[in-house]
Amino acid sequence: MSNFKRYLVTAALPYANGPVHIGHLAGCYLPADIYVRYQRAQKRDIKFIGGSDEHGVPITIRAMKEGVSPQQIVDKYHALIKESFDQMGISFDIYSRTSNKIHHETAAAFFKKLYDDGLFEEKETEQYYDEKTNTFLADRYITGTCPVCGNPNAYGDQCEKCGSSLSPEQLINPRSTLSDAVPVKRKTKHWYFPLQNYEEWLKGWLLEGHTEWKNNVYGQCKSWLDSGLQSRAMTRDSSWGVKVPLPDTEGKVLYVWFDAPIGYISATKELTEQWADYWCKEDTKLVHFIGKDNIVFHCIIFPAMLKAHGGFVLPDNVPANEFLNIEGDKVSTSRNWAVWVHEYIKDFPGCEDVLRYVLCSNAPETKDNDFTWKDFQDRNNSELVSIFGNFVNRAFVLMHKLCGGKVPALHADVLDESGKNLLAEFAITKTKVEEHLDNFKFRDALFEVIDLSRKGNKYMQEQEPWIVAKTLAENPDNQKLIDNCLHICLQLTANLAIMINPFLPNTAKKMLHLMKVVEKMLEWENAGKTKLLSVGYSLRAPELLFRKIENEEIDAQIAKLKAGLVKPEAGSLKPGNTGGEPQTSDIKPQIVYDDFAKLDLRVGTIVAAEKVPKADKLLKLQVDLGFETRTIVSGIAEHFKPEDITGKQVVVVANLAPRKMRGIESNGMILMAEDKAGKLHFINSVDAIDNGSSVS
Ligand code: 2FM
Ligand code: ZN
Repeated sequence: MSNFKRYLVTAALPYANGPVHIGHLAGCYLPADIYVRYQRAQKRDIKFIGGSDEHGVPITIRAMKEGVSPQQIVDKYHALIKESFDQMGISFDIYSRTSNKIHHETAAAFFKKLYDDGLFEEKETEQYYDEKTNTFLADRYITGTCPVCGNPNAYGDQCEKCGSSLSPEQLINPRSTLSDAVPVKRKTKHWYFPLQNYEEWLKGWLLEGHTEWKNNVYGQCKSWLDSGLQSRAMTRDSSWGVKVPLPDTEGKVLYVWFDAPIGYISATKELTEQWADYWCKEDTKLVHFIGKDNIVFHCIIFPAMLKAHGGFVLPDNVPANEFLNIEGDKVSTSRNWAVWVHEYIKDFPGCEDVLRYVLCSNAPETKDNDFTWKDFQDRNNSELVSIFGNFVNRAFVLMHKLCGGKVPALHADVLDESGKNLLAEFAITKTKVEEHLDNFKFRDALFEVIDLSRKGNKYMQEQEPWIVAKTLAENPDNQKLIDNCLHICLQLTANLAIMINPFLPNTAKKMLHLMKVVEKMLEWENAGKTKLLSVGYSLRAPELLFRKIENEEIDAQIAKLKAGLVKPEAGSLKPGNTGGEPQTSDIKPQIVYDDFAKLDLRVGTIVAAEKVPKADKLLKLQVDLGFETRTIVSGIAEHFKPEDITGKQVVVVANLAPRKMRGIESNGMILMAEDKAGKLHFINSVDAIDNGSSVS
């Protein structure tokens, strides 16, 4: 159906200044992976490119505040992000990084070519400068009082209290967030890319040539182009990044949004000597998977750069997703309102496909969507377990019970209409799934597959082979009816494995194992076929594909999220938070005395501590409060050994409602101090205090 000879698929390079959360997965990595797995199953020549975006101001600032080098920051998060993607089955052909030498060379050469061709404007402007730290300040790193609402902590680009968009000049009493110094204006020279020169071309190529792009993407591009483009600085004053490849440019680097998308090219170079086939031959289909905040960069700026450079293919599509909110609230890395992928993997081992399933079926494809733990549980329990998993399990159980553990024959003489219809559904579903996937409609495609398993359940329920089995004594011929039912259900299982594979690859593998067939069966051309499993072939004993998720697990996640317990591992800052020290903006909203008076804080002594089985983070404590000894479950197991904390005194929130964690009722919470590296400490008093003493 397409004239493309090869596919090049990219997924946005995440900033290596924090772990990835489920919003990242839902936004672009999961759809990209599903698309790529599907194309691979179609035996298409395809490369899937990813990597970490390791430049930019947030990384330098974080390094400065943590007192480490930017390289140390990116090394740490690159490794963590790469591992999370790996564990979630995001099957990049390469996951590279922009601090690599090959990337610096590629990006510098790209810039130099545009420079040599006279395509940049050189301009000297005045910008805010912090004389204490010798740094030019990006707008975000200047704070001051909002001229609109008086918020004393407004940023140089925006006031988060009243939402006004600002420029640093508008702030009253501007200060540098790095040192609190009053910023001064300094002259600096930069190279600007005149985007307006590409406006007409972009209108033709994109607005006229790509009307098929998703509405959310097309709409955003149209509004950018309608409001007119302007020159944009492609260099910055910084010591971290790709050095400007021109004489006398010490302290200047390429703008991170200039170098990052070139990272796709560098990574392809690193992957294969044939990189130019993918980037320069017109019969390549280039698809960028991104989140909506990246649209302008991938649809306007990068294509204009590629066009200006010449010799590169342009994206054929940019299927950007919107955002995924969590429990009704926007994801915020600084408020730690996020579900971190590496945390999920630890908390739900073996359930990677469940997250893939939930994020795909709830993907923000056309509008922002909400992830809730309750919905996660419902989709797992009532769709994966009760529909898909249940169908496969019943087919296997009944085949063992009623057909001797082998694939029974199909008897044409007794094949009824519903059996014929279901067999016909295999190919019908295949076509629908293809149509949806070719059009980046991943949710619809997944629903079709689940729907096919639902049809299987319905068919089995109607045929009732377990009832028919009771008639065999009088009517042995009825075995044929049982055979037909299970033959069809097993062939359907094979089809489900093929069609679910792009979405839930681990599940597809488990199904192959149950059916004792090799991976080759998963090739897409096999989908729709009705004779995938040979008659008489013996299959393995059933094993459940999915487990039920219990209320307590969900309650624990909600509690963790709310209590801000989901934290990056010790030794790091909260991702996205630009500073290590407690900042005024980190202080929670003001409370009145009555709010505080509701808390009953008591001194207690930890008299016993033990690890909670199968929970890396939890310790079960017995805390003596003087008047009673309480069981308290606390998320401190990664910080302390049980034997090291018995005898320690702690402050206990004594009137916190009881909460079950891993089946243990926790009656209260202990308070600890967390330093800027995320390490926990007891706040010790030299004197022992009577247990039960109140703290106020
Ligand atoms: O928004 C982000 O996380 C950017 N680091 C995405 C870069 S995508 C590409 F251009 F590299
Ligand atoms: Zn304001």
